[in-house]
Amino acid sequence: MSDTYRFPDGFLWGAATSAYQIEGSPLADGAGPSIWHRFCRTPGMVAGGDNGDVACDHYRRSEGDVELMRALGLNAYRFSVAWGRVIPEGRGAVNRPGLSFYDRLVDQLLAAGIQPAVTLFHWDLPAALDDRGGWLNRDIAGWFAEYASVVVRALGDRVALWTTLNEPWVVTDGGYLYGVLAPGHRSLFEAPIATHNLLRAHGAGMQAIRAAGGRQAGLVVNLEPKYPASDAPGDLAATARADAYMNRQYLDPVFLGSYPEELRAIFGEGWPDFPAEDLALIRQPLDYLGINYYTRSVTRHDPSVWPMATGRVRQPDHTYTAMDWEVYPQALTDVLTWVTRRYGPLPLYVTENGAAFYDAPAADGPVVEDPLRVAYYRDHLRAAHEAIRQGVDLRGYFAWSLLDNFEWSAGFARRFGLYHVNFLTQQRTPKASARYYARVIETHGAALGA
Ligand code: BGC
Repeated sequence: MSDTYRFPDGFLWGAATSAYQIEGSPLADGAGPSIWHRFCRTPGMVAGGDNGDVACDHYRRSEGDVELMRALGLNAYRFSVAWGRVIPEGRGAVNRPGLSFYDRLVDQLLAAGIQPAVTLFHWDLPAALDDRGGWLNRDIAGWFAEYASVVVRALGDRVALWTTLNEPWVVTDGGYLYGVLAPGHRSLFEAPIATHNLLRAHGAGMQAIRAAGGRQAGLVVNLEPKYPASDAPGDLAATARADAYMNRQYLDPVFLGSYPEELRAIFGEGWPDFPAEDLALIRQPLDYLGINYYTRSVTRHDPSVWPMATGRVRQPDHTYTAMDWEVYPQALTDVLTWVTRRYGPLPLYVTENGAAFYDAPAADGPVVEDPLRVAYYRDHLRAAHEAIRQGVDLRGYFAWSLLDNFEWSAGFARRFGLYHVNFLTQQRTPKASARYYARVIETHGAALGA
């Protein structure tokens, strides 16, 4: 086997999940409900009326799930802590039994030789905080910092990587601009405020993690490179808007201390002036940046799309996933090199990458065949390797996801797992992509050349 695709020593080979998507038992042992618990009970918001009450039952099966990780040969696992398990009201009293669940999980992982990478916020805001305005209330930066201190003080000695927020863009885009994710608001005026308070919480959270002795700390964003559909000035301007909105809205303030100019044009009177001291808080030095990459967008001017006036051009000859996302591995190399050029060389992780495809049920055999997902992982890992070859300081890769799980407003109908989950019996079955990924890990990437 050739060494063409060998990854550096010490590279983290991981898989990722998030609390609400896999844990189930949302109110067990004194936990407080989250906005997702509530959103799932709002008629019409989640496909099939699904919810995370059971999901993968991971809260009760974590030991077995760590064994699945060990079987893959993972040396890292990225998961999130449910804020409401630890602080049921979101602020104030700590719920020790909730914290103990994560304490045990961290120990189980370490015993299996797997480094824990912990995300403090992956969308499941305590409902009690939403009742106080959620991300629209400036006090949330303090609430988040207090929660971060509690978790880091409890687990900090054993956790390799801390993440403040997962994909703040999705929280504002889905939660406050278009209303398709919890808490389901649709407002041009709220989205910028939510963005800004998420970033202030990130800044205050970074300070709290460091003060509590956390080791490496950073932020995870989802990036989607935008390529103009043509050289027409309208398409070029639309591409710049789409890029500012999705890719620079969070990274410019964090790394450069200012918001992209285009946001003012997009949000109009909805975009306020923010105080300079807030931007100083937001611009905390990061130990690393995590990038979630799934797809790209070929972008054109489209005045019918509110409020961005940008549209996506479908690529007829390319494969699309069950999410209707174009498979385009080259953009992973592009996005990693772009971040390195624009924001300076810094340690990067691919904190999510993967694909939903229809997987035939596992009833008949020991493995679920998923050739499209095998190809997806092969081609994206090759693209990640190419970024390293071009000088990107990429330190690890986390497949999304370890298990088929609750895919937010799409319910259980979209399967991203390396392991197939039968949601009636909780039976886990490896997919061919799990076997493939294990082989890649075992060979430090060399199997990608086969
Ligand atoms: C999120 C995950 C989600 C995945 C696939 C990311 O946006 O962090 O929670 O399941 O993409 O949609």
